Amino acid sequence: MLKGKHIVLGITGGIAAYKSVMLLRLLVKAGAEVQIVITPAGKEFITPVTLSALSGKPVISEFFTANTGEWHSHVDIGLWADAMVIAPATASSIAKMANGVADNMLITTYLSAKAPVFLAPAMDLDMMAHPSTQRNIATLRSYGNHIIEPAEGELASHLVGKGRMAEPQEIFNTLARYFAAKEGSLRGRKVLITAGPTYERIDPVRFIGNFSTGKMGYAIADEAAARGADVTIVSGPVAVRPSDSEAVKVVSVESAREMLTATQERVADADIVILAAAVADYAPAHPADHKIKREKSADAPTIELVKNPDIARTLGAEKRDNQIFVGFALETDDADANGRAKLVAKNLDMIVVNSLADAGAGFGTDTNVVTIIDAATGSARRFPLKSKRAVAADILDAVESAQSAGKQ
Ligand code: CTP
Repeated sequence: MLKGKHIVLGITGGIAAYKSVMLLRLLVKAGAEVQIVITPAGKEFITPVTLSALSGKPVISEFFTANTGEWHSHVDIGLWADAMVIAPATASSIAKMANGVADNMLITTYLSAKAPVFLAPAMDLDMMAHPSTQRNIATLRSYGNHIIEPAEGELASHLVGKGRMAEPQEIFNTLARYFAAKEGSLRGRKVLITAGPTYERIDPVRFIGNFSTGKMGYAIADEAAARGADVTIVSGPVAVRPSDSEAVKVVSVESAREMLTATQERVADADIVILAAAVADYAPAHPADHKIKREKSADAPTIELVKNPDIARTLGAEKRDNQIFVGFALETDDADANGRAKLVAKNLDMIVVNSLADAGAGFGTDTNVVTIIDAATGSARRFPLKSKRAVAADILDAVESAQSAGKQ
């Protein structure tokens, strides 16, 4: 989404200026064109040489280039920008922005900019808490500027300290979300995904499960979010996280029954439902309340199993005409025929078949080899070995073309 975007990155004089280098790298890596505008105080903290080397463009700081007399037009830069990001934004720059004190190139550019403006405040706690700073930030908000505050993350909020600048990745994610929501091909769509394994309890410390890591489902969630969708994952126990936790909502569940309930509660709102979870087919009929002790049973215990609900089939039976349902099939033999049978049995629109016979496919890998079978056309398209994120893109491309082919 940031590819080819024109971003003005404004840097002011704060300790957090070193983090702007990381932000610059993330933007450049995503294919954005970045013009750095730095305040005179900013240059005390970070050298323009580093910034121009990474951005591939001369850094702008003064109204004129000293040796040539060339004039930098803040109006042109303001118009060139698709977005302007000021990180770090110090108390002083925030005050100038709120009050139109146009005494440096960055503030004049800000005042001329037609593009959306994002600011990541950075200062010490007392300066941040001061009523004058708070009033200035409130003023900038009222101008429609986006204020990026640090996510509290895993640290307790008292350790984080208000005033610390948001991390470069958070700032980057905020920009990516902005453009995805504005231009993404799935903007305004609600996507519901099941992912990961389910754990079926035998007793409080043991379970029946499988080797699914959730990587495929989470890759689809990340890709759908990058296309501007409103994404919810109902996830079994996994170690993976969405790349942008603000863009993807995770509902954590443990067993197949919990996954069914959590999915049923959310399916009515969804436009696209992707069933990527490796749901355990059976669960212990009588899970023990206490840990089963070895010495109490003379013989090896037998675990009686009951069938789990089939989530895909249950939801598929109630599918509305304007919803698209995508299932997965992990097969060892007769992948195509088994995939087609599941497509029909579960009332799906599409099934993504992966065969364990293919190297690089299946659980735990970062790659996958899939065939996408479409119910409407009967076509089966086999894709080569790709990263799971690229496979996610192929799946969502197929969903989007099915939608434009008249499903919605
Ligand atoms: N699925 C589900 N609930 C289940 C079992 C499967 O929602 N209890 C979904 C999976 O998420 C996947 C599809 O159904 O999208 C096919 O899963 P798979 O395990 O391959 O199919 P099964 O129906 O369990 O068939 P089998 O184990 O006989 O191959």
